[in-house]
Amino acid sequence: MEQQQNKYDEPMRFLVFSASLRDDSLNTRLARLAQQVIEEKGGKVDFADMSEFDVPSYNQDEESNSGHPTGAEELCRRLLANDAFIISSPEYNGSMPGLLKNAIDWVSRFRPQPFNERHALLMSASPSMGGGNKGLWALRMPLEHLGARVFPDMFSLATAHKAFTEDGTIADATLTKRFEDNLVAFMNLVEAAKHYPCMKKAWVEFLGEYPDPAVERVE
Ligand code: FNR
Repeated sequence: MEQQQNKYDEPMRFLVFSASLRDDSLNTRLARLAQQVIEEKGGKVDFADMSEFDVPSYNQDEESNSGHPTGAEELCRRLLANDAFIISSPEYNGSMPGLLKNAIDWVSRFRPQPFNERHALLMSASPSMGGGNKGLWALRMPLEHLGARVFPDMFSLATAHKAFTEDGTIADATLTKRFEDNLVAFMNLVEAAKHYPCMKKAWVEFLGEYPDPAVERVE
């Protein structure tokens, strides 16, 4: 008899994409490296190109008359098809690229709204010393507004134009370990949130209770 696969054995699925359209993008390199690490650690990656999510400037009249553009439908579909998403985004003028915010705005119009309760990890790469980290704080804002669970730790690769080896890994060993640890911590959280929601609920109830033997069962 064929053995049934335990649902706890299924790999977690991650949508990974870079918010840069540039051919030689540093952020795409970082996103590819994230894919490599996730797959090595047993996760499954759905790697997307930002051009797949290309949309016209958001216009509410256009939405009322013609509905959602194909690029927004595609991003919505891919978010729903995966357990979590990872964006490696350039920083443009201290914020996120306009094309990314525009795509988020379009996708926020679907119901159910696909960012809600979805886990996200943010990363960036830049030739600057800040690594594009300021842009991630800007990106965090609309995502959290939409109910995404944005992971507290973010990874920003400074002087990224000099940080990669020829084969696409990060040259510095300490940074490599930080990058991998960040990804593994995120993967563990996504897995826990998917498979153990009852424990999460009990913990929230417990936090809300005053110490009283009558309610100790919630532990
Ligand atoms: C930049 N760049 C940039 N870098 C940064 O660290 N902080 C910033 O505010 C900006 N601002 C900015 C604005 C615009 C319009 C451009 C085109 C560029 C530099 C940027 O980080 C660099 O070009 C990266 O290489 C872009 O990412 P990709 O395309 O390599 O992934």
